Amino acid sequence: MKTILITGGAGFIGSHVVRLFVTKYPEYRIYNLDKLTYAGNLANLSDIEDAPNYTFIKGDITDAKFLEDLFAEVPVDGVIHLAAESHVDRSITDPMAFVMTNVVGTVNLLNAAKNSWVANGFDGKRFYHVSTDEVYGSLHNPEEFFTEETPYDPQSPYSASKAASDHFVRAYGNTYKMPVVLSNCSNNYGPNHFPEKLIPLMIHNIRNNKPLPVYGKGENVRDWLYVVDHARAIDTIFHNGKLGETYNIGGFNEWRNIDLVNLLCSIMDRKLGRPEGTSAQLITYVTDRAGHDLRYAIDAHKIMNELGWEPSLQFEEGLEKTVDWFLNNQEWLDNVTSGNYQSYYESMYANR
Ligand SMILES: NC(=O)c1ccc[n+]([C@@H]2O[C@H](COP(=O)([O-])OP(=O)(O)OC[C@H]3O[C@@H](n4cnc5c(N)ncnc54)[C@H](O)[C@@H]3O)[C@@H](O)[C@H]2O)c1
Repeated sequence: MKTILITGGAGFIGSHVVRLFVTKYPEYRIYNLDKLTYAGNLANLSDIEDAPNYTFIKGDITDAKFLEDLFAEVPVDGVIHLAAESHVDRSITDPMAFVMTNVVGTVNLLNAAKNSWVANGFDGKRFYHVSTDEVYGSLHNPEEFFTEETPYDPQSPYSASKAASDHFVRAYGNTYKMPVVLSNCSNNYGPNHFPEKLIPLMIHNIRNNKPLPVYGKGENVRDWLYVVDHARAIDTIFHNGKLGETYNIGGFNEWRNIDLVNLLCSIMDRKLGRPEGTSAQLITYVTDRAGHDLRYAIDAHKIMNELGWEPSLQFEEGLEKTVDWFLNNQEWLDNVTSGNYQSYYESMYANR
């Protein structure tokens, strides 16, 4: 039996990874380690919380002693590391939180894994670090894409902290011969997305007839991937990725923010039975984010050609599914926007 520690499993992407591993691999033992920050929500996993091969552990990766004790107690074979502070705007107001979790937390996790694995050799072990395309900086030439060889050029405190953690993971692979593998993915969207991020924020605001804040002129370009396709890519890389390698993950799906918001408005008008053009009137241009990267675009040929992964959903289909999920899960959204989800699940966890 394989024992896998997934960090950040109560968050947006982590919850889809946990669900995929718990349901697809009943023979594995899956531990989900999460601090339950504002972004962690156990409601994301309510459908699998009683699965026999699943255990939730509340804990903080900035606590090195806690991690050493955990690895002494649980015979971890593989780590899939997603826990992070993930919102660029928050990194601008509080960079140190990003240094602590994304850099110090990652190094703590590397140390705990290395120290527990080194005695018996690294055979059968694997440390997988989940990262972002934002480490590559911003593209200005429309012909250009981020490849695995693109030099790092992070522009925000968030991307700088993720870049630092990527470097540490590679350094542990090089220096201690730890079995590491990394991926850098483009922007995700889908169910359980925290409504501070563009797509769920717009869905929430359109539904409630609130202004739709679009940074600058809305010309920034992002490359969107359905979150379940990212979870499938993580499964593929965890099992078949070559040790020491990095894989870029993306869907060749670039959208200017303003075009994406207009598309969402039109989908929402149809779903809510409003005349076409109603929601678009809510669009409000606001002062641009400081240092806002212009364009991200991933060249995903390596994972496609070498590992046979490809996205399963076209963007319009994924967006329809996402809108339907948010409209059908109003309670989830209300609990998150009101902050109730934290106290409810805190007390539930305390009673277990
Ligand atoms: N969201 C995207 O579009 C995207 C794209 C590419 C890569 N990534 C990366 O994927 C990972 C997950 O992103 P997400 O969007 O799901 O993030 P998220 O903010 O939704 O979730 C992060 C999770 O980590 C947990 N966490 C935070 N600090 C912790 C700590 N100190 N100890 C333990 N747990 C802690 C939170 O409680 C939360 O459950 C991140 O590493 C992020 O950099 C995200």
